[in-house]
Amino acid sequence: MVPKSHFQIIILFLFSLLYTTSSYSHIEADFDKWVSWNAKNYEKKNVLEAKRKVRGPDLKLRQAESNKVSITVSQDGSGDFKTITEALKSIPLGNTKRVIVSIAPGVYREKVMIPRTLPFITLLGDSGDPPTITGNDTASVVGRTFQSATVAVDASYFVAINIKFENSAPHVIGRRGEQAVALRISGTKAAFYNCSFNGAQDTLYDHKGLHYFNNCSIQGSVDFIFGSGKSLYENCNLNSTTKKVASITAQKRTNSSLESGFSFKNCTVTGSGQVYLGRAWGDYSRVVFSYTYMDNIVLSKGWSDWGDQKRDSRVYYGEYKCSGPGANLAGRVPWARVLTDEEAKPFIGIQFIEGGTWLIRL
Ligand SMILES: *[C@@H]1O[C@H](CO)[C@@H](O)[C@H](O)[C@H]1NC(C)=O
Ligand SMILES: *[C@@H]1O[C@H](CO)[C@@H](O)[C@H](O)[C@H]1NC(C)=O
Ligand SMILES: *[C@@H]1O[C@H](CO)[C@@H](O)[C@H](O)[C@H]1NC(C)=O
Ligand SMILES: *[C@@H]1O[C@H](CO)[C@@H](O)[C@H](O)[C@H]1NC(C)=O
Ligand SMILES: *[C@@H]1O[C@H](CO)[C@@H](O)[C@H](O)[C@H]1NC(C)=O
Ligand SMILES: *[C@@H]1O[C@H](CO)[C@@H](O)[C@H](O)[C@H]1NC(C)=O
Repeated sequence: MVPKSHFQIIILFLFSLLYTTSSYSHIEADFDKWVSWNAKNYEKKNVLEAKRKVRGPDLKLRQAESNKVSITVSQDGSGDFKTITEALKSIPLGNTKRVIVSIAPGVYREKVMIPRTLPFITLLGDSGDPPTITGNDTASVVGRTFQSATVAVDASYFVAINIKFENSAPHVIGRRGEQAVALRISGTKAAFYNCSFNGAQDTLYDHKGLHYFNNCSIQGSVDFIFGSGKSLYENCNLNSTTKKVASITAQKRTNSSLESGFSFKNCTVTGSGQVYLGRAWGDYSRVVFSYTYMDNIVLSKGWSDWGDQKRDSRVYYGEYKCSGPGANLAGRVPWARVLTDEEAKPFIGIQFIEGGTWLIRL
């Protein structure tokens, strides 16, 4: 199935290359073909997904979940460790068990790194008084946006529950190098429940892999959800703190054969300033909002091509059954899509992130 679908995408891609010098309508027709292919392919994927559900999670994950261990972190010395970093250091590399790191309430000023060699880590906070992990590195201080993250996760099968991720560096409009990431997630098959991500520019680096966010709050000023992840955000609040014009997302997809995109379902868009729902980082940027309440801060144009018009026919920016004053479609850019039921389906369930093989719903 996979080679075939990639093959089809590559064919469509080559086909569109052939016609890039030709008229826009050719490209558009080609793109529409892809859209209907995507909807049909979903039916196939759905059958696969149903089989995966019967089989349940993959073997490595099943084994890890049946071998859980717990360690505790508390700043007052009453736990196994006083810092999250010390707790992580105690876990053997190439870990095969689910390790639940219970973190007592408090503000943890630590730069937390979870390397690829530490899969199956859960950071668990108290839902009544979640711990905050905070830092204030910025791109200009540490060299790159990538390295500014307060918490950076390169491991797979990561879970966070009731945790506040923060980068407190302020965003000064017009100054360079202010990108300040609260969390970077680069490992695949990661899930976040009841978490908050607070920062200014570039808060949540949804870098790569399959990710699930449920009941989370994400706050920032510019491009505050960005990257090449393939992620489903359910029941989340996206809170803009910009005072001017900014974009909520900057989804990066540079090639039509890449499996990446952000899907927001049953979320709320609130806050200050005026925002685009997304701006295209890469020619094939892909973002869908469904069943989402949008406050009046959303610009009527809705989406931005980041000043590159060839992206207009290549990005996939869709809306489906959204509500609120910001969801008025009247002034949208002509290349924004109002999705049909069929077109929306591939994006609005956990099959979008192949959840059947790995997602443990809490
Ligand atoms: C999320 O928070 C609510 C309210 O504090 C709590 O009832 C719920 O159990 C939390 N969810 C998880 C997965 O811990
Ligand atoms: C980060 O915090 C430290 C200590 O509080 C402070 O000295 C530094 O100026 C801050 N850096 C930024 C970029 O805000
Ligand atoms: C979602 O999180 C909020 C707090 O962040 C909590 O009050 C609420 O109970 C949570 N809802 C669910 C369904 O867990
Ligand atoms: C939508 O999200 C809200 C809160 O974020 C939650 O209370 C509600 O149950 C969600 N609805 C569905 C259908 O998931
Ligand atoms: C959005 O952010 C502002 C500024 O930090 C804050 O005052 C407001 O309570 C936040 N709204 C939500 C819904 O989190
Ligand atoms: C897109 O990806 C395919 C497969 O990885 C690769 O062969 C092709 O060269 C890429 N195209 C561009 C324009 O990067």
